[in-house]
Amino acid sequence: MREYPTPVAGFREPVSLLVDCDTGIDDALALAYLCSQPHVELVAVSCAPGNVAAEQVARNNLSLLELCGRPEVPVAIGARAPLRIPLVTTPETHGPHGIGYAELPEPHGKVHGRDAVELWVEAARARPGELTALLTAPLTNFALALRAEPRLPALLRGVVIMGGSYYYQGNTTPTAEWNTHVDPHAAAEVFAAFSGLPEDRLPVVCALETTERIEMMPEHVAALAVEAGCMEPELVLPDQPEGRRSTASNELVRHVSDMLRFYFEFHRRYDQGYVAHIHDYFAASVAAGTAGICTRTATVHVETAAPRLIGTTVADFRGLWGESPNARIVSENHPEEAFAELVRALGGLGRRLGSRSARNAPEAG
Ligand code: BDR
Ligand code: CA
Repeated sequence: MREYPTPVAGFREPVSLLVDCDTGIDDALALAYLCSQPHVELVAVSCAPGNVAAEQVARNNLSLLELCGRPEVPVAIGARAPLRIPLVTTPETHGPHGIGYAELPEPHGKVHGRDAVELWVEAARARPGELTALLTAPLTNFALALRAEPRLPALLRGVVIMGGSYYYQGNTTPTAEWNTHVDPHAAAEVFAAFSGLPEDRLPVVCALETTERIEMMPEHVAALAVEAGCMEPELVLPDQPEGRRSTASNELVRHVSDMLRFYFEFHRRYDQGYVAHIHDYFAASVAAGTAGICTRTATVHVETAAPRLIGTTVADFRGLWGESPNARIVSENHPEEAFAELVRALGGLGRRLGSRSARNAPEAG
């Protein structure tokens, strides 16, 4: 087991990220969080088909980056579908547009003219050893990038993946996690590409057994609003009517609250309580170097054939298959620290962006 302690308060080592996401409520929180971090350079944000179609992901990303003060970050689309199977999206989890009840402003910016995979490869070649990949979506784009440039594992400074579940139940089938289930062939190719590399080159994998511990609750939304300087309490409560909309004076808080209400309702529908697992925020904090974690090296297998087990991930921690490790799986994380960090960071960002008029906010239902 390897420990990566939480960084000392006040010091954050600069990080340059290539982000691939399928925004997605928790992807949106991840992006907003990264925008709040002065030590994080967002080199490019690419859009993967997953929670919603790639075009909708792009609209969400453009709008969020503008809202969060990073309009200059290039947003590009790569694949439109998984490598070998049709795309399945999940409007019941993230809403028809991927962002719950939020209605983000129409973005001013446009999707980059170049293909996301080309952009990634070009960026990695131009800055060898500098860029960290953060992957919070099905791994389609990253698998294509690895096909185009097999030296990517060596060219990148690091790779952080949200995906899989190891000896822990799935969230899509009894054994499979959503990202690996949507494109199992891509996930299998990605893990194969890292086989046999030195430990510090292996992707850090944030899987359900640790990401589901990052369980957001109504009190976190309330705390976020206080931190952002909202005068009225931001109440997202289980006994309120479903679909009620926020009237928070702070635009960022308003949108985040509208996203999370949808996500809370979704989790309640699946007997998980009025909470939300914000998987991708956790992965983003790992990539940003702001989360303390422990990892274990393993050989990961992604099932692509057995019908009931498609997308299931299995980890060999003890070398029983006799194959080289291809991943570092996060084995410990710190939910309380994660939420203290999120509330401080997003609240601070909301405060800095200021209270824009609530005039255009939809009426409370
Ligand atoms: C993953 O699936 C998606 O719905 C989320 O955005 C996250 O990346 C969790 O299984
Ligand atoms: Ca995601």
